[in-house]
Amino acid sequence: MNMPFLRLLAAPLALTLAACSQSSPIATAAASPLATATATAPAQTPADDLVARGEYLVRITGCNDCHTAGYAEAQGNVDKARWLTGSPLGYKGPWGTTYAANLRLTLADMDEATWLAYSAELRTRPIMPDFALRAMSVEDRRAMFAFIKSLGPGGTPAPAYVPPGQTAAAPYFELVLPAAAPAAAAGAR
Ligand code: HEC
Repeated sequence: MNMPFLRLLAAPLALTLAACSQSSPIATAAASPLATATATAPAQTPADDLVARGEYLVRITGCNDCHTAGYAEAQGNVDKARWLTGSPLGYKGPWGTTYAANLRLTLADMDEATWLAYSAELRTRPIMPDFALRAMSVEDRRAMFAFIKSLGPGGTPAPAYVPPGQTAAAPYFELVLPAAAPAAAAGAR
């Protein structure tokens, strides 16, 4: 697969997501109530810490953006019961049409060791940023596993991959690189 081409696809997506998040109100009032809550909360077990860390990582590394239907549209206000259950929204390009998998089903039959080996070597089709998952530390991938497992299996499988030239089920984004891409769009600065 042609990597510079993939980077072209990823950049506008990241810009779009950044633009969306800038319109959210900034929370300002949390400092003192948070301090009080921390002082009175019971001590967390290491397992709780791992799950909480995994939730944080899933939230900030964007897994929900694709793997949770409607997540970006709702500014992330989606019930955790629906997180990572996959999406019917496809990504159509030269690779065919891919759909973000239901990760809660993908992980259902895995133990931690299996996940660590799998995620360290994961190679998918676009538009999944598999390189980002592979680059995560073992501790971060352990935490994500603990969190996703804590959600339990749920939902139904995402639509199956459709090869190039075959009719894919809508809806999908169609990702087309213009024939004469301007130099700036090709990454020149
Ligand atoms: C830009 C959209 C996007 C983002 C962001 C994204 N994924 Fe994906 N992911 C996909 C798509 C699409 C597929 C299906 C790829 C294919 O069909 O080969 C996929 C596939 C996967 C798979 C393989 C699942 C299977 O059953 O085959 C795993 C595991 C995965 N993603 C984990 C993650 C994790 C963890 C994150 C967050 C760090 C994440 N993804 C972020 C779009 C995305």
